[in-house]
Amino acid sequence: SDRLLGRSFLTLKEFTEEEILYLIDLAAELKEKKKKGIPHRYLEGQNIALLFEKPSTRTRCAFTVACVDLGAHPEYLGKNDIQFGKKESTRDTAIVLGRMFDGIEFRGFKHSTVEELAKYAGVPVWNGLTDEFHPTQVLADFLTVKENIGHLKGVTFVYVGDGRNNMANSLLIGGAKVGMDIRICSPKELFPSEELVNYAKEVAKESNGKVMITSDVDEAVSGADVIYTDVWISMGEEDKIKERIDLLLPYQVNREMLEKTGNENVMFLHCLPSFHDLETEVGRQVYEKFGLKEMEVTDEVFQSKNSYVFDEAENRLHTIKAVMAATNARLG
Ligand code: CP
Ligand code: NVA
Repeated sequence: SDRLLGRSFLTLKEFTEEEILYLIDLAAELKEKKKKGIPHRYLEGQNIALLFEKPSTRTRCAFTVACVDLGAHPEYLGKNDIQFGKKESTRDTAIVLGRMFDGIEFRGFKHSTVEELAKYAGVPVWNGLTDEFHPTQVLADFLTVKENIGHLKGVTFVYVGDGRNNMANSLLIGGAKVGMDIRICSPKELFPSEELVNYAKEVAKESNGKVMITSDVDEAVSGADVIYTDVWISMGEEDKIKERIDLLLPYQVNREMLEKTGNENVMFLHCLPSFHDLETEVGRQVYEKFGLKEMEVTDEVFQSKNSYVFDEAENRLHTIKAVMAATNARLG
């Protein structure tokens, strides 16, 4: 359908349950085409701007490969490569990019920046992560769930950890939209905002979903189909490390937590990157300073048969491709 044509993708709030499910199904279809080598060049001849204020592996690569698979040209614009933010306002940048490109991806700090880009660009703008929301990630997460559980409605999806970061916010919205039993488990200090929780509860009424916000791990994970976590320190919060370790250690995803679900097939998901070993520079620094070898998830769980994190990472490609195709091409 052409219902999504010309629209921006800033948060899942602006999309109905039906539209979200459509994007996930389209992603599955495009994934199948890619695997079979069937061309799907729905954006033939288009030019796409990829604007990044923060670093990225998955999102940048997914947008880049998706553009090429769809027949479009991707242009990576790093923060220091263009005038944006230093000599040129967001509004002026949006107008200029919109005159040349057919679509714009933005990853950065303030959510208001991506809103302003969308307001002035005149072409679809896709949110590749802001401090508040990371909606394309949720599509990949839900596609991964659907591939393994077969459906989304009624799935008990438990997010454990920093309950007010971009992932917690976005999963809360997405879970409520599609009628999951969505649970956010974090210390009270890191609960999602009251405004967002109230919003999610309203949405869940329509989708037959459920919303639980709790600091009690046992209550949260009981009967879980999916356990999800994210880093304790998001990009831009590096100074909060000590306080987050103190608050979040009891929320580490480890074997005992998986056992508490009572579901031996519980799926473990993580948007990545993840702190589960000492194979990184930051990991070694944290180990020297705080003595921790793992943070939000143990290496044991990360490497276990319950872990679907690399399927999930691959699904970034297929779902981002679906978002660009649905908003920027006539699919008939
Ligand atoms: N999950 C995710 O968005 O990863 P990147 O930061 O590497 O893009
Ligand atoms: N919450 C993390 C997600 C990374 C994909 C961050 O913002 O850094």
